[in-house]
Amino acid sequence: TAGLAVAAKAAGKKYFGSATDNPELTDTAYVAGLSNLNDFMQITPGNSMKWDATEPSRRTFTFTNGDTFCSGHNCVWHNQLPNWVTAGNFNNATLQSIVTTHCSTVVGHYKGKISRTITDILFALTDSWDVVNEPFNDDGTWRDDVFHTTIGDGYVALALRAARAADPAAKLYINDYNIENTGAKATAMLNLVKSLQAQGAPIDGVGFQCHFIVGQVPTSFQSVLEQFTALGLEVAITELDIRMTLPSTAALLQQQKQDYQNVIAACKNVAGCIGATIWDYTDKYSWVPSTFSGQGAALPWDENLVKKPAYDGIVAGF
Ligand code: XIL
Repeated sequence: TAGLAVAAKAAGKKYFGSATDNPELTDTAYVAGLSNLNDFMQITPGNSMKWDATEPSRRTFTFTNGDTFCSGHNCVWHNQLPNWVTAGNFNNATLQSIVTTHCSTVVGHYKGKISRTITDILFALTDSWDVVNEPFNDDGTWRDDVFHTTIGDGYVALALRAARAADPAAKLYINDYNIENTGAKATAMLNLVKSLQAQGAPIDGVGFQCHFIVGQVPTSFQSVLEQFTALGLEVAITELDIRMTLPSTAALLQQQKQDYQNVIAACKNVAGCIGATIWDYTDKYSWVPSTFSGQGAALPWDENLVKKPAYDGIVAGF
């Protein structure tokens, strides 16, 4: 078969990519697979650009691990915050200043260096940031995190404006999960985008994480993608994996292949869906087993770096 990135490009997409993380980069067999440009043209840092990694103490920025990568994930998120960013520590005005400083410093550090695709690194065409990650609860209400409880809805526009000022060429995204089906959470994200556009706040794209379960991939994904591109946005699959209850069986692996194919086909069919990223490429380094008890085998390569049926499902989807 052609390769995942080759198939994505042939379908008119900008990239196919994978998340990765610094500790894995000592595994030479793993790095050899990740470096195959026929499969991966884009990298998302799994952890090393998050707030706890980049600003562990107030105004002390560290970019050592993040500098390994050329991508932007993420600026403002309720998880992986350093302890100093805690509800009750700051009033509204101070936290606004903290968010602005964090976003402008981190995005500014990577100005002209981050890139959506390896091709783009060579030609310096474009780049993107997940500026705000996971703002909503599953019922479509705002997540009750330090940013929303202290600043209110306006923290999103604040972070986006700081990012735009720090790197005017970067594409600015909001990224979330469980917005891949029609429902309250997707509607809340659509309404947020419309409100940002009405305020003139910079928003270029919405990322669909796509952390799915075998046999349960959403059926309205393509129509949701179309609802967002109809607003003039680009969209992307940003963190795709499709987990199963272990142990894996031949039947589950076949269903997983079909599921990957269906998800990728939805992106293929929407011109404004610019690319797809899997949340690492091998089960060896997947976040799933440590996060969802009893589940795993979510990625297209197994723990021994051997391709699974899902690999062919992705190629077929494009
Ligand atoms: C995960 C990482 O993969 C793990 O290593 C870390 O322990 C927790 O975060 N949504 C996101 C990603 O936007 O940043 C998360 O990554 C997975 C869920």
